[in-house]
Amino acid sequence: MPNIGSMQSTQKFVFEDQEECVCVTIPDTCNTQYGMYTWPCAPMLAQYVWDHRGDFKGRRVLELSAGTALPGIVALKCGADVQFSDIPECMDSVRLSCAANGLTDVQILEIIWGNFQQGSAISLLTDLDWVLASDCFFDSSDFEDIVATLAYLLERNVNCVCLFAYQLRTLSYSIENLLYKWNLTASLLEMTTDSVPTIQLFKLTVNKTNN
Ligand SMILES: C[S@@+](CC[C@H](N)C(=O)[O-])C[C@H]1O[C@@H](n2cnc3c(N)ncnc32)[C@H](O)[C@@H]1O
Repeated sequence: MPNIGSMQSTQKFVFEDQEECVCVTIPDTCNTQYGMYTWPCAPMLAQYVWDHRGDFKGRRVLELSAGTALPGIVALKCGADVQFSDIPECMDSVRLSCAANGLTDVQILEIIWGNFQQGSAISLLTDLDWVLASDCFFDSSDFEDIVATLAYLLERNVNCVCLFAYQLRTLSYSIENLLYKWNLTASLLEMTTDSVPTIQLFKLTVNKTNN
């Protein structure tokens, strides 16, 4: 019998236009850890990065809770300086994906939502231009910690913009009140219209104060 806890497969993602092409190979493991599988949000965020690759070239990017790291790898292949983060249990997943694409010298940080202790990896990040976050909002008990983490990153990295891809899993919970509480605005950039699940791609910025 196959061991469902560790079934392996490989997915190939191709991003191309008439002039350029980037291929990314992602090993997926069917595992109880969420970060070992490429969630539907990730290709949408990666496609956005590819479509706007001129905005990423030479820029400092953090892929938060990267898991199999597709958007960050695309950004890296488009010339961005990318750091990845995840919880310790999923760092190997990031490493494996990067290695499958010939990227062995990558920085993978431990960043836990809601944890900003002095000296922690997140507290040392400066000069970020982009934060990419794909499918972080899946358990509503973590939503405030995630929003607080994004707010922390945007406050400390003044020129930074966050892009996050959100899978609509329930209509009974919204992050709108949390964005308000943490002084953030999310602008909808794109959403799937003809496929299930519904994925929304947002740009997140800090509200400017008027004084
Ligand atoms: C649904 S997966 C998404 C993975 C990947 N970004 C994607 O879209 O394919 C959620 C990610 O959040 C990470 N994660 C879970 N709990 C976390 C926590 N407390 N702090 C930081 N990251 C966490 C998981 O390890 C996993 O990589």
